[in-house]
Amino acid sequence: MDGFREANNFGLNQKVENAQFHVKGANNLSWGMKDRLSRIFNPKTGRAVMLAFDHGFIMGPTSGLERIDLSIVPLVKYADCLMGTRGMIQTCIPANVNKPVCLRSDAGSTILTDLNRNVLIDIEDAIRMNASAMAVMFSAGDGDREAITAANLVKAVDMGNRYGIPVMGVTAVGKQMARDARYFALASRVCAENGANIVKTYYCEGFEKVAAACPVPIVIAGGKKLPEKEALELCYNAVNDGAAGVDMGRNVFQSECPAAMIQAVYSVIHEGLTPDQAYEKFQDLSK
Ligand code: 5RP
Repeated sequence: MDGFREANNFGLNQKVENAQFHVKGANNLSWGMKDRLSRIFNPKTGRAVMLAFDHGFIMGPTSGLERIDLSIVPLVKYADCLMGTRGMIQTCIPANVNKPVCLRSDAGSTILTDLNRNVLIDIEDAIRMNASAMAVMFSAGDGDREAITAANLVKAVDMGNRYGIPVMGVTAVGKQMARDARYFALASRVCAENGANIVKTYYCEGFEKVAAACPVPIVIAGGKKLPEKEALELCYNAVNDGAAGVDMGRNVFQSECPAAMIQAVYSVIHEGLTPDQAYEKFQDLSK
């Protein structure tokens, strides 16, 4: 007790703050889950710019991802979160960049196969990778593929809940399915109903209904490469219609100036720039 000082700072007139958590649907999650979600979704804006470079797990070396050390590493500092496979992250991304990782956690088929026989990676590897979330595909309305991907999603959620790692359900579009609000609302909702903490889907007409009916944050994929201004409009419309950000790949790394593009996207998502303002920023930064 030598040097012990009597406790006398109890803040008797101050109420304990029980602030709402800034991520949709996450109020009742554990502290560890919330901590991981906070690394992805900026507590000031509630939004996220995730950089997706997992395409090779299905497609091999696609344009812009031939050398991730050259194309993606320079963009890392502008992203809120990195979304890739364990193989590319551990071989190409320096471990001291200190960015949260949304780990692509399923694998097993390529564009050469018709039927996905996807399997999940071991949760222990996600823990070793210090993953802040695990991304797992869910393909609705696609026969066996639906059953396989639903089982993967449920298993990932069970494991994620055990260790406090959120799961992002990635809605794939089956061959017979239309890319419309009805499909994306169904696929997103099924992901959330099965316990996904984040959903990744596509922007579409009527997206506000997709977002409203999904109780967890939606981030949108960019899809195939668009002219930069159109891609920025896509981001703007998506967040205005209820998305919590983007998980964007080709529209960033296939851009004429990827570093300028990701900064322009960031400005739309976090700073409220209009597509015109963001495009002007893209042009300035491209010079
Ligand atoms: C594929 C994916 C991709 O990461 C996703 O499609 C995002 O990339 P892009 O913006 O290029 O569409 O999850 O399952």
